[in-house]
Parts: sequence; structure tokens; C-alpha cells
Amino acid sequence: MSPARIAVVGAGWWSANHHLPSLAQYDGAALVAVCDPVRERAEEVATDHDVPEVVTDVEDLLGLRLDGVVVATPHDTHHAIAGRLLDAGIAVLVEKPLTTTTADAVDLVRRAERAGVPLAVGYTDQYTATSALVRNAVQGEIGELVQVMAEFSSSTAGLFAQAEDAEQAAGEGAEPAEDAEPEDQHPGTYSADHGGGQAHTQLTHVMGMVCWVTGREVAEVAAMVDQRGLEADVDDAAVIRFLHGGAGVVTSTGMAGEANGERHHVRYLGTRGTVDQDMLGDRAWLRRGDGSTVELTGGQEDVPRTWLPARRFADLTVGRATNPAPGRSAAAAVACIEALLTSAETRQFVTVSRLP
Ligand SMILES: NC(=O)c1ccc[n+]([C@@H]2O[C@H](COP(=O)([O-])OP(=O)(O)OC[C@H]3O[C@@H](n4cnc5c(N)ncnc54)[C@H](O)[C@@H]3O)[C@@H](O)[C@H]2O)c1
Repeated sequence: MSPARIAVVGAGWWSANHHLPSLAQYDGAALVAVCDPVRERAEEVATDHDVPEVVTDVEDLLGLRLDGVVVATPHDTHHAIAGRLLDAGIAVLVEKPLTTTTADAVDLVRRAERAGVPLAVGYTDQYTATSALVRNAVQGEIGELVQVMAEFSSSTAGLFAQAEDAEQAAGEGAEPAEDAEPEDQHPGTYSADHGGGQAHTQLTHVMGMVCWVTGREVAEVAAMVDQRGLEADVDDAAVIRFLHGGAGVVTSTGMAGEANGERHHVRYLGTRGTVDQDMLGDRAWLRRGDGSTVELTGGQEDVPRTWLPARRFADLTVGRATNPAPGRSAAAAVACIEALLTSAETRQFVTVSRLP
């Protein structure tokens, strides 16, 4: 097979540890270029993975005859970078969240449609065989969707606290940590100013999954958020109502850790059965109304799960794969999260913007 010509924008923690090694060791992809405004970071990862071209500006990628570009940059930069590439007719895999506003998310979906190229989102768990089975079961076997209960707990509170320290240090004129190794975490990326916080960073994973698995948009949200003294949200809890029926509860905290355990779990309850999905364990079960239970686990992948999105995307760009994390369901997740944060701030029920 001829390899897809792929570039990576953002030579930071996630790319350096996952997307770049995944693509570099995949016959279906040829890594053509790395782009990062911090040239030393881009040069370092290019050397590590034999990438021929290093650029510091996305514009410099446009003449390279690319099939696709992986974008793993701070949340508030996704819209501008992905939009530019889509307008140039290049397929894009953008990391989660697709964008930080609904208007920007809808705009990217439209631009991808106009250009006729795929827009995929880096929701890692949607790329597993188990998640495809979960989607089929929820849409085909459990009858009418009644309720969804979703939880995504993680240990991100410390990252958000470090993000504020990094912002404060920058405000006081300290040098940014540009000399940090590419594969280290760069907490400043997750500050409130860059669209950090638990909802955009973590709850987005489970909301993206719910929108994709159910094929539904959220119509209305009532939410509460605790910032734990920080500028961004750390604990989120929301009650949601879906368009076309069904309600649910979504929670996400950054306060999970060794003592209280992380959990990424969704329960889809229908009139004829339920599906329990353990996203972290990549396992799921369909319980039918007749009392029988079927395990939906799709089997072990031969590479780390975090390496799947870049490879599947490379295949997608040359027509060898389908898109398990399409821009449209990711945009539905963004719309829900925007409404969740507005609801928490205003203490009102919020109607979610409908996607066109
Ligand atoms: N799918 C997952 O499970 C997962 C996990 C971690 C991070 N992520 C996502 O990956 C993305 C990157 O996160 P990270 O932790 O690697 O951040 P990072 O700060 O380590 O890396 C981001 C890189 O982008 C570069 N950059 C900033 N602005 C740019 C621009 N305009 N053009 C090109 N490059 C630019 C920065 O210099 C930096 O090197 C975020 O969207 C994050 O949410 C996804």
C-alpha cells in the first residue's frame, strides 16, 4: 500500500509520546513534516522520528502535497489551525476538544464538508473495536434510549493548578518553559486562558463518546461546577436532556487519584436492554430484556490504544478506513459543554445550540 503523506502540528507532550511514534512505525503513513512555533521542539522530534521537514508556521505545510495533518496544540488554537488546513483541502485529525465554542466547531464541520475532506477528532476511546460494538448495540439492540449515566474521573486537578502557576510566572516576565523536553507535560497549555479546565480537557471524552454512540445531540443542560479555588472548572456535574428523547447525568472530576480511583464509564439504558461501557478497561456488556448478557469487548489491539487515532486517520485520508470520531458528533459534544459551563455560571437551565 502506498503510505499516506502526513504532517503533525504541535510537537508537545501528546504528539511526542503518541502520534509521532505511532506514525513513524506505521507502513501506512509517511511522516513528511513537523510544525511547532518552538523550533527546537519540532527539530528534536523530527530527529527522533526521521521526519524530513521542520516548519514553524502552518502556512509552510500547504505546499507539501499532504494527505492529512494531525493537530495536537492548545485547545484555543484548534479552530484557526484546522480551518486553514481544511480550506486548503487537507484532511485533519484535531485533538480533543474539537474547539472551545460551538460556533467554531460548526464552522470547522462546514469547512470540512465544503472542502470534501475528512475531519476527525482525537477521542482515543472511539477508535477501539469495542466502542464500535457499543455503538451498534446502543443504536440497534436496546430499543428506545431512555437514560444515559456517564462518569469520567481523572487526576487532572494538579495539572490545572500547575497551569495557573505557569500563567502567573509568564505574567511576571519569567521565561516560558520552551526548553522543556517535547515529551514532558507543558501545564500552561491547560490554563483557563487557553481553554483548559475539566470540561474541555476530560468531560469532553465522555460527552464525545455519548454523542457518537447514541447519534444524538443534547437539547438542554443544567449544571454545577466547582473550581476548587482555581480559575478553571475541576468538578463538573450536569443533568442533560437529549433532542428526540432521553435524559441523562454526566459527571467529571479532576480529583480522582490513587486513593479513590479513576473511572470512565457510561451506562446506556433503553426500553429493551442496557449497555455498560468501561472506557478505561475497553470492555462493555449488553444486557438484554430476557436476562442474557453478551460481552461486547472487541479484542486486544496490537499497539497501545493511544496510537490508534493517528494510524486510523492516515488510512482514512487515503480511503482505506472509516472515521470513528467525526467532527459532527464532536461538535455536538462541544455544544453540550459550552451550555454546561454557561449553566453553571448563570445557575439556569440552558438550551443547547442545535447543529445545522
Ligand atoms: N486524546 C487524548 O487522550 C489526549 C491526551 C492528552 C492531550 N490531548 C490533547 O492534545 C493537545 C495538545 O496537548 P499537549 O499536552 O500535547 O500540549 P503541549 O503544550 O505539550 O503541546 C502543544 C504544542 O503545540 C505547540 N503550539 C502552540 N501553538 C501552536 C500553533 N499555533 N501552531 C503550531 N503549534 C503550536 C506548542 O509549542 C506545543 O509544543 C490538546 O488538545 C490536548 O487536549 C489529548
